[in-house]
Amino acid sequence: MTDENEHYQKNTAGQPLALERRDAAEDGRRYSPSTGRNKDVVRETYLSHMPLKGRVLEIASGTGEHGAHITAMATDLIWTYSDIDPVSQASQRAWRGAADHDRLRGPITLDTTQSVWSEEEEELASLDGLFCANMIHIAPFEAAQGLIAGAGRLLRPAGRLMLYGPFARNAEIAPSNARFSEDLQRRDPTWGVRDLELQILPLAKDADLKLVTVVDMPANNFSVVFEKR
Ligand SMILES: C[S@@+](CC[C@H](N)C(=O)[O-])C[C@H]1O[C@@H](n2cnc3c(N)ncnc32)[C@H](O)[C@@H]1O
Repeated sequence: MTDENEHYQKNTAGQPLALERRDAAEDGRRYSPSTGRNKDVVRETYLSHMPLKGRVLEIASGTGEHGAHITAMATDLIWTYSDIDPVSQASQRAWRGAADHDRLRGPITLDTTQSVWSEEEEELASLDGLFCANMIHIAPFEAAQGLIAGAGRLLRPAGRLMLYGPFARNAEIAPSNARFSEDLQRRDPTWGVRDLELQILPLAKDADLKLVTVVDMPANNFSVVFEKR
């Protein structure tokens, strides 16, 4: 087990973007305890509501566990990892190397706060799916704005975006999420749990994305699925 938190990308307060210790296997694959707990239900939701064929770009792939777990079951998907954090990218590379298929691609360096996401942006266009778990509350709001705008730019018509994580709902928030949000804001005042109805849906409307479904997930999380018009 190694702990290389000091090498993670830092927030504006100089703290690592990874909130928890991630253990690493000999081959470099990292494991996040929270992803270990949610990856089965996240995959189930993905399989019910997201494209099962074609090209998917994952934003903020972190350890890389979601992409590996989903593509092991969805065998017609080509899945590209991305992240801003080099330590996370190294883990994504290791998950890619350990897979018994070649449908995991990347990682590419992609920061959703940027108006153009990466040098590869043109090649990424006309995506079938975009997937992003647990990023928009652990980043400045500009990251959510950029994510939704990017989905509007890069998804093909009827392509889908899935977000997973905690949300407030129309100014109401579960007590555990309120505590989590306060803790995030103590770490970095630009972070915090976002309000789906008040903050995210207006961005989706501007990006020509219609809401398909909101799925209740364990521990007061939600999966939110949008479709490009
Ligand atoms: C809590 S981790 C979630 C990782 C993974 N999605 C999961 O659910 O296991 C948050 C990730 O967001 C990435 N991140 C933070 N800000 C970002 C940004 N502006 N653009 C892209 N990725 C970002 C971090 O590097 C980190 O890997």
